[in-house]
Amino acid sequence: MLDTTAALVGAEAERELIASLPASFRWGVATSAYQIEGAVDEDGRGPSIWDTYCRVPGAIDGGDIGDVACDHYHRMPEDVALMRELDIDTYRFSVAWPRVQPGGKGPVNPAGMAFYDRLVDELLGAGIDPWLTLYHWDLPQELEDAGGWPVRDTAYRFADYAMLVFDRLGDRVRCWTTLNEPWCSAMLGYHIGRQAPGRQDFSAAIHAAHHLLLGHGLGTRRIREAASRPVELGITLNTGHVLPATDSEADRDAARRADGLGVRIWLDPLTRGRYPADVLDDLAARGVHIPVQDGDLDIIATPFDVLGVNYYFASYVSGVDSAGNRFDAAGLPVERSVTTGRPVTAMNWEIVPEGFTDLLVRLSRDYPGIPLVVTENGAAFEDVPDENGSIDDEQRIAYLSAHIAAVAKARQDGADIRGYFVWTLMDNFEWAYGFAKRFGLIRVDYETQERTPKSSALWFRNLIRGVRGDA
Ligand code: FCB
Repeated sequence: MLDTTAALVGAEAERELIASLPASFRWGVATSAYQIEGAVDEDGRGPSIWDTYCRVPGAIDGGDIGDVACDHYHRMPEDVALMRELDIDTYRFSVAWPRVQPGGKGPVNPAGMAFYDRLVDELLGAGIDPWLTLYHWDLPQELEDAGGWPVRDTAYRFADYAMLVFDRLGDRVRCWTTLNEPWCSAMLGYHIGRQAPGRQDFSAAIHAAHHLLLGHGLGTRRIREAASRPVELGITLNTGHVLPATDSEADRDAARRADGLGVRIWLDPLTRGRYPADVLDDLAARGVHIPVQDGDLDIIATPFDVLGVNYYFASYVSGVDSAGNRFDAAGLPVERSVTTGRPVTAMNWEIVPEGFTDLLVRLSRDYPGIPLVVTENGAAFEDVPDENGSIDDEQRIAYLSAHIAAVAKARQDGADIRGYFVWTLMDNFEWAYGFAKRFGLIRVDYETQERTPKSSALWFRNLIRGVRGDA
């Protein structure tokens, strides 16, 4: 039996839920450096693993490449002006490590750092709070050549880089996220190979996971020690929300394993200083061990202030293949995604807003005392411009409305959620999917770089004004 609990609650109920959010709720939009900046060869920026991966034949749909992307590096003031029109109070962006420290070690590249200095000033001048992510997947290529995240030294390199950025921007930026979605960096990057650097080695992915966590802990400690004014430190996870396709023992065990690598392998060490026993057993059964050294878990469990949650869909897994087998040809336990026939976005991701409520309530229950902020939520649809180039993206509005209502519902059910950021400000380079998948509130014409707000942009602005009480 599929757990499809509540269906969409309907527009009126959604409006009521959204209206229950407090006037102090934080509203923002999110982006990341490689997806929007372009200017990959300018002002001393070094190559990242994404510059390299994009050049692997067949890696990116349509052969797309992020060399120019939204040209944000040159259009930043114009983009901040667009944000101002949205009436958001927060902009979540990432710093490109290879722009500020090209080889991943050594001194700062002043010209690269100057860009973020200008961005922060521009935001503050527009009354927008900068929310800075230090690592959104663009590892300097030199560090990958030295072994990448599976190698312990990368964690120390990350902490040094974090301090370079903090030394320069810590006087004006209060909210710092160490890592964006380390699951993707580790699993998609080193195991599944669907993201940079495109390796396929499960053991390397697990080593990467530990070193990402270690880098987070080291960076968090050093920023906290150096901060002379209050900072809000955090990490952003895409925990996913995985449910068993049926109530069978095999499906429940598959869901447990997926939850182990999606949620608990991250949050247990981050908040309790230990890896979950069942995850360690599962890994050992595959001959894989987490390379923990003395003191690592204390560092990883350094207290932090806010957990960023990225949510797009829920998924359902079965522990048997279509022939009913529990093990695949390689002897590994089966973990097979099952679709439920619900409507999907252009990513083919099923739309499950009630899964969002359940996830947020579960995170607050299982990991209490940590405020949550939704650092990404949004949807790609096949936007069709009318003859004037306008986009009436009703599907995106419906998606956002249902998911913001789901957040409000989770608050009513006891989850401590402080804010919500839409992914994303404007259409951009969607990693392995290239430019074909559009998630933006603002349309980008990649030929002319013209920006056109979609209906969802206006809708989001009105929603924010309504909740704040200044409609
Ligand atoms: C998340 C990423 C973000 C964007 C969205 C659609 O996993 O953090 O950069 O690609 O998915």
